[in-house]
Amino acid sequence: MSVSKVNSGFIQLNNVSQSFTSQGQQITLFSQLDIAIHQRRSYAITGPSGSGKSSLLTLMSGLAQPSTGSCQYHGVKGVQPLSEIRDKVGFIFQQFHLLPELTALHNVALPLKLRGQRDATKKATEWLEKVGLGNRLTHKPAQLSGGEQQRVAIARALVFEPEFIFADEPTGNLDSASAKEVSEILFSCCQERGAALVMVTHSESLAAQAQQVLAFNEGKLAWASRENSRAMTATQTESSAGSEAVQYA
Ligand SMILES: Nc1ncnc2c1ncn2[C@@H]1O[C@H](COP(=O)(O)OP(=O)(O)OP(=O)(O)O)[C@@H](O)[C@H]1O
Ligand SMILES: [Mg+2]
Repeated sequence: MSVSKVNSGFIQLNNVSQSFTSQGQQITLFSQLDIAIHQRRSYAITGPSGSGKSSLLTLMSGLAQPSTGSCQYHGVKGVQPLSEIRDKVGFIFQQFHLLPELTALHNVALPLKLRGQRDATKKATEWLEKVGLGNRLTHKPAQLSGGEQQRVAIARALVFEPEFIFADEPTGNLDSASAKEVSEILFSCCQERGAALVMVTHSESLAAQAQQVLAFNEGKLAWASRENSRAMTATQTESSAGSEAVQYA
């Protein structure tokens, strides 16, 4: 994706709530959220295990539906449901979800082949080299370590140059050197290619690199930007401005 191709699309969550009924009990993870996710910006979602980070990410990316409220894409064609922009969204799953029968190369090439791209294998090879797996192209997921599988999942999510990248603990299984390389790749997609980057992370140092931080804390969700909030005020549109964008659950 060249920068000139990038528009200023955003994903808007309006009055979004998510609840589950489990064993007769209703659990509300969050309610009445109003959040905008803009291209060219980076976001981190933090909070304790079980607080709802992955659930929020699946709503933002259109992989799941909220209990109430709406999640929509706003772009040059106007407002569209997230189901219509699947080709703009790359998702790195917490559990990777690689296809076990396919090699690393074929796992990464698949999204390109599904889009009919002829140079799928070449591009997939380049991306696997970029994440340090040029010597693991023909390995199947079961023959890869957890960190290697995570890097294959990252290459698969980025190979088609999505406009929105959602990453669920993308460095969770990586040593510090690999984690640094992967985070540099993710942020360069945001800064150089104009993608939105939304990461769930337990890593304080990774979260600190994001322009905005959404933190689950004692059952509440709020913007927790620090120095980054200054950059946000300077450049952000009114539709997603600052702490008013999120109401407490
Ligand atoms: N489909 C579902 N049905 C019932 N409960 C669910 C469902 N999906 C998630 N939950 C519950 O919602 C809570 C939040 O789950 P979620 O996976 O979003 O947490 P998380 O913040 O990503 O945690 P972790 O850091 O451990 O990955 C959990 O208690 C989970 O059991
Ligand atoms: Mg999770």
